[in-house]
Amino acid sequence: MGNKKKVLFSGIQPSGVLHIGNFLGAIKQWVPMQDEVDEAIYCVVDLHAITVPQDPKELKENILKTTATYIACGIDPKKSSIFVQSTRPEHTEMTWLLNCHASIGELSRMTQFKDKTVSGKEQASTIGLFDYPILMASDILLYQSTHVPVGDDQKQHVELARNIAQRINNKYGEIFTLPEPVIKKSVARVMGLDDPTKKMSKSAGSGLNYIALDDGADDIKRKITKAVTDSGSEVKSGPDKPALTNLLNIYSEFSGKSVTDIEVEFAGKGYGEFKSSLAEVIIESLKPIQKKYEEVISDKAGLIKILNTGTEKIAPIAHKTLRELKEKIGLGL
Ligand code: ADP
Ligand code: TRP
Repeated sequence: MGNKKKVLFSGIQPSGVLHIGNFLGAIKQWVPMQDEVDEAIYCVVDLHAITVPQDPKELKENILKTTATYIACGIDPKKSSIFVQSTRPEHTEMTWLLNCHASIGELSRMTQFKDKTVSGKEQASTIGLFDYPILMASDILLYQSTHVPVGDDQKQHVELARNIAQRINNKYGEIFTLPEPVIKKSVARVMGLDDPTKKMSKSAGSGLNYIALDDGADDIKRKITKAVTDSGSEVKSGPDKPALTNLLNIYSEFSGKSVTDIEVEFAGKGYGEFKSSLAEVIIESLKPIQKKYEEVISDKAGLIKILNTGTEKIAPIAHKTLRELKEKIGLGL
């Protein structure tokens, strides 16, 4: 990426509990990156959350809870800007401008829309859900982002943002920086504990699917004990062992040990011993995050101040990009 200013942008929807998939696949990658880029921006994407029904009171609470989780996981408001998407009107305005440069065909190919709609009932879903990737492209392009750390499921959306940016640059001249997704392979898709063929997700049917960041020790032990394993008894990863591969990747990420070292440590020891050690590793890793979360969430005024400072800091960047694009398109007086 040469000498270009490095701008990181990422976001999570404030639509309920965050789980260790969100943490390992996204937030944990964000923390060291704060020191590696020139500008780090973390958004609480509330406009994305309303693409599916939300309870207004819960949504409001979840906005602050998600902000507190960012901070508890290590996002430092002194180094990074944290803000709430709906507090910057540039995002919706940019979405309209990008809408007029994107086709129904390319949006129809987005797999998340297909996953989130019930087959045969696509006509009943909202236009917002269909247009969700364009709102995400607006988030990314408004800040001239270069680095977008996400889990694997969002890669297609970042690529769409890049394609639209390229198209607009070709048509009107250089306006947008082309973004790149940043994806860590081993945790790009943390799989469900109850079904290692599907990604861990808060919208999964069973609470045994995921470990929430605020789960207590007993819940973590119970969920890991009940986690699906593969046939056999060896603690080994491999293409024919999807469940163990997933558990080993989780162990490795939380402990900092390599998968090979963990395999050696548990050679000949069986699943039971491995699982109780894994539960301990997760419990100990989440403890400081949970402690910090309680501290941060109890100071609502402090959180709002952080969000207001964040949104003011980044406003000029969004404003400038939007103004330039409108000018090039020929809008206004
Ligand atoms: P969910 O799928 O649980 O609703 P979100 O869509 O809000 O989660 O995802 C927020 C961030 O966390 C995104 O960057 C997404 O790619 C990442 N993420 C979500 N689930 C996983 C997972 N199981 N493994 C890795 N990353 C994930
Ligand atoms: N769509 C992302 C998700 O569900 C969240 C998101 C919105 C995002 N805007 C973004 C992620 C911009 C990265 C960059 O996970």
